[in-house]
Amino acid sequence: MTKPKLRIGVLISGRGTNLQSLIDACTQPDFPAEIACVVSNKPDAHGLARAESSGIEAVSIPHKNYESREAFEKDLTAALTERDVDLVCNAGFMRLLTNSFVAHWFNQQINIHPSLLPAFKGLHVHERVLEAGARISGCTLHFVRAEMDAGPIIAQAAVPVLPDDNADSLAARVLTAEHRLYPMVVKGIADGTITIDGDTVSIAAGAEEHAPLLLCPNL
Ligand code: GRF
Repeated sequence: MTKPKLRIGVLISGRGTNLQSLIDACTQPDFPAEIACVVSNKPDAHGLARAESSGIEAVSIPHKNYESREAFEKDLTAALTERDVDLVCNAGFMRLLTNSFVAHWFNQQINIHPSLLPAFKGLHVHERVLEAGARISGCTLHFVRAEMDAGPIIAQAAVPVLPDDNADSLAARVLTAEHRLYPMVVKGIADGTITIDGDTVSIAAGAEEHAPLLLCPNL
């Protein structure tokens, strides 16, 4: 019997290019995960249209309609649970999450951030990387914890910062790495190559050939 696919719920707030990379990966028949739904806190997020045009359920839960974060997150968890989501994938989801939501999805929620964490948490990452004069930047996939852009690191991809870069050109280079890395990590979690125990992320023995890719894909 074939193993059932891991069901992922993708949380977005905007254009959804990382979502698109997951949609594209999931169209491959041997990819071990499937997108159960895409949820946005912004009704006009372009990512919702990407989901719909690929026949994926797109759910809008506008946070502005709620009086509290808790009430918003209650509906968010309900939407994910109703669709049997195993893993929550934040992909440009721009809401801070409460301890209780994070605890509910403990080690079942991952996030992508466009820097080499723990450096450059938060917003306006690329501007700050350039201001700091860093020579290397990149992206990080991590399990979600209550603190913003914190949690056990799963994988990182490094890219150079070039002398003529501005924030847009650097963002574009990092984004290309994000689109490679996110599906790689979802695949690893889905096929059991990547596991987490408490705060310790491991890559399964026997899958060492994946380790260099996970640490720094050759882009
Ligand atoms: C990405 O750079 C991601 O790392 C950050 O927000 C951006 C989302 O872009 N968290 P997109 O919506 O996936 O195009």
